[in-house]
Order: sequence, then C-alpha cells, then structure tokens
Amino acid sequence: MKLSAFCSYAAVSFASLVSAYPGMGGGMGEFHHAAKETRQETKQLIGDLKTLKDSQLTTVGKDIKAIITNQQNALSSVIDTGAPAGTPDSAACKADLCCIWKWISYDMTARFNGSSGRCTKFARAAVRLGFHDSGAWSTSSSYGGADGSILLTDEIDRVENNGLEFIAEQMKTWYNKYNKYGVSMADLIQMGANIATVVCPLGPRIRSFVGRKDNPKAAPTGLLPSPVDSADKIIKLFQAKTIDATDLIALVGAHTTSQQHFFDTTRDGDPQDTTPGVWDVHFYSETVNDTPPRVIKFPSDIALSKDSRTSGAWQGFINGQGRWNSDWSKAYTRLSLLGVKNINDLKECTKVLPAARTTFVNQDQVLLDRWLQGEFDQLNNMVDDAIMLTGVITGKGANQTEET
Ligand code: HEM
Ligand SMILES: *[C@@H]1O[C@H](CO)[C@@H](O)[C@H](O)[C@H]1NC(C)=O
Ligand SMILES: *[C@@H]1O[C@H](CO)[C@@H](O)[C@H](O)[C@H]1NC(C)=O
Repeated sequence: MKLSAFCSYAAVSFASLVSAYPGMGGGMGEFHHAAKETRQETKQLIGDLKTLKDSQLTTVGKDIKAIITNQQNALSSVIDTGAPAGTPDSAACKADLCCIWKWISYDMTARFNGSSGRCTKFARAAVRLGFHDSGAWSTSSSYGGADGSILLTDEIDRVENNGLEFIAEQMKTWYNKYNKYGVSMADLIQMGANIATVVCPLGPRIRSFVGRKDNPKAAPTGLLPSPVDSADKIIKLFQAKTIDATDLIALVGAHTTSQQHFFDTTRDGDPQDTTPGVWDVHFYSETVNDTPPRVIKFPSDIALSKDSRTSGAWQGFINGQGRWNSDWSKAYTRLSLLGVKNINDLKECTKVLPAARTTFVNQDQVLLDRWLQGEFDQLNNMVDDAIMLTGVITGKGANQTEET
C-alpha cells in the first residue's frame, strides 16, 4: 500500500479541516492521532439526541449515539435463523415487534438477490431510495428526512429521482401489504436499504432500527446532489446534513453496485465500476484509474476523488473493504436517521436481516468481462437483473435486440 501517498493526502485534508474549524487544537506533531480525533470532533448529534441527557437515553438511544459519534461499530451478526412465529396475522407474530419485519425481510431478500448471486436492480435502487428519502433534509429544515415522504407525496416525480419508479412501485406494494401491521413507509424504506446492502455480496450487515414516523408532506427541494455538481458544492451540501467528508466518501461508495440509466441515456445500464451488483471497493480504485469502456464515471465522483478534503478518505477505501464496510455502516446509520425526532424510542430488529456474504466470485466472469469491453448489448438487462450470464451466441452477426 502506498503509505506515503495516503499520509500526504490525509495531511492536506487535515490542514483544510483545521482552517475550517479554527477552534480545534492539535499541532501536526500529533498528526496521526489528531486526524482520527478530528472526525469525532466534527460528529454532530441529531434529532432528540441533541437535547436528551445521557441519563435519559434508552439502550437503543445510547447505542445510536455511540455509533454516530464514531465510538461504536454499527455492524452486527446477531441473527434469528428460525422461521417467524406464526403467520403475520397470528397472535404470536403480533406479540413480537420484529416478527412482521422477518416476513418483510423474506419478501425483500427474494426481490434483491439474483441468480448470479449479485444483487438486483431492486436492491441497488432500494439503497438509492433510502438516500433520497432521508437525504432530503438539512439542519435548517424543520421537516423532511427519513419520513417516507418520497413515496407518500409526489416527491418521486422530481428529476433527481429518475430511475426510482420501479422500486417506488415495489415499495408501495409492500407498504399496502404490511402497513396494516403498523409498519411505516419511512421504516420500510430504511429497512429496505439495509436489507439490500447485506444481500449484495460483500455488503455489511448493519444494525437496523424501526419506529420512524411518516410525514405526508413533501420534503424541501434542492437538497439532493447532481452528478455534475462540484466537489465543493457536494461537500457543503452534506455538511449541512451533519455528514462530514469521510462519511460522504463512505456513502458515495454505494456507486460500486450501480448501473446508471438516466445520467447518460445513450448508455442505459452501464455500470460505475467493473463489478455491478457486488458491494466491493473496486469503485474507489476504478474511479481514479483506467477502466474497460463500458464503465461510466460520474463527474461528481471524479471530483470527490480529487478534492483535498475528500481524497484522503477516498484513497483509504481503496483496498479497504473492512474499513469501508465499517465506515459505511456508521455513516448510513446517521443518514437513515436524518429528520427523525424520536431516535431514543426506536427499537432494534437487526436479527431479521439475512446473513452477510463475506466472499464472492462471479461464476460468469468470462462473459461479464466481454460485456464490460462493450460486447453483448443483449446482456444489459440480464446484468441489471443480476441473472447468471449464459447462452450468448458469439460470432459475426450475432447481435440481438435489447429486448431479448
Ligand atoms: C454524493 C453525490 C451523489 C451523486 C451526485 C449521485 C448521483 C447518482 C446518479 C446520477 C446515479 C445514477 C442514476 C441513473 O442514472 O439511473 C446514482 C446511482 C446510485 N446512487 Fe448515487 N449519487 C450520490 C450519492 C449517493 C449516496 C450518498 C448513495 C447512498 C447512500 C447513493 C446511492 C446510489 C445507488 C445505490 C445508485 C445505483 C442505483 C441503480 O443501480 O439503480 N448515491 N447516483
Ligand atoms: C442469494 O443467492 C445466492 C446464490 O444464488 C446464495 O448463495 C445466497 O445465499 C443468497 N442470499 C440470500 C441472503 O438469500
Ligand atoms: C454488436 O454491437 C456492438 C454495439 O452495439 C458493435 O460494436 C459490434 O460491432 C456488434 N457486433 C456484431 C458482431 O455485429
């Protein structure tokens, strides 16, 4: 690992943080510790955690506070492998808050897992939907955030939500099935993101909390980023959501799974790294290096990889799967609670999530590689749906229509 390169990146970003927060002490002599403490220094509290005293916190409230202030991990392997107690309508199921979530987890996992073992477009869109509901919030908004409004109002029609229509329909179907058991849209969306993340191979298994309240009012506008925004604009936009530069870079790594449809409509389905549907760290190295022709890089991702405030974190996630999964989980826990005013009253249902998969090999790599080189347009939808790639007719004149 290029340690010297990483240290010089980190030094630049530390220096700029010091000037951004002039009250902070710490000379460069203490640099290695200081860089770490800088992160904690800038971690802000959110929602009811801002005003509650430690003595008033529930176990969940304490844990969430520790997670978002970088004192505690947000990963968990606590798992309930048993079947849920009875049907959703049974008294036994109604007696256990997480029982209904176990049923929801089964439905979501089936939708999110592809026959190739990669995660499907539904999984990827569920993660993006989680961001677009909760991220429509800033410290100056009195409403918005993880409140389900993206699917309870016409927010979904905003241009930044292009491409989320099919997951919106799927989520509403689940909502109509499960709302009568007391499940909020806000929770369904955020649990959807966490289940999607762990269903993607190599994805982290994040502690998952429920009890968010829905708001039938559309979120404030102008709070979600555009792929042509400058790094400065995006860093400030996220700062106003209490998300610091390292957390931002951890979160944007979700593009590792992505296949864009609307950024460049002439290249429908083209991925943002060579392994769409896999929660690996290739996105970080490939954004800054040469890639096969089918990979499309967003200008915003390139800008963030280079900006002095974010390039250190970016470099740190290259070859850093464990570090990324850990940082993603803390950052996403924060993101998933923006605008939530009853954090201390939430309940934990992590045990319903499926097990994480910590190793993964694409069985169809040979075809995937040729697709990445620009061959086989007819495979676009199969890659998007995470179906095992087989049966391509090769040779001259073999191109088929996209509809196949
Ligand atoms: C930081 C600024 C960000 C910008 C400018 C941005 C922009 C975009 C764009 C343009 C797409 C492609 C949409 C399409 O054309 O179909 C996309 C996809 C995606 N984004 Fe972001 N994004 C950002 C941050 C994030 C964050 C913070 C998350 C998650 C926490 C996220 C999760 C995703 C996912 C999972 C996809 C893939 C969706 C799919 O494959 O269908 N993005 N993003
Ligand atoms: C997803 O599918 C793969 C392969 O088809 C399987 O190995 C894996 O266990 C499945 N994951 C879940 C969470 O069901
Ligand atoms: C198949 O289509 C691609 C682009 O869509 C083109 O570059 C390639 O030459 C075509 N191959 C054949 C054998 O027609």
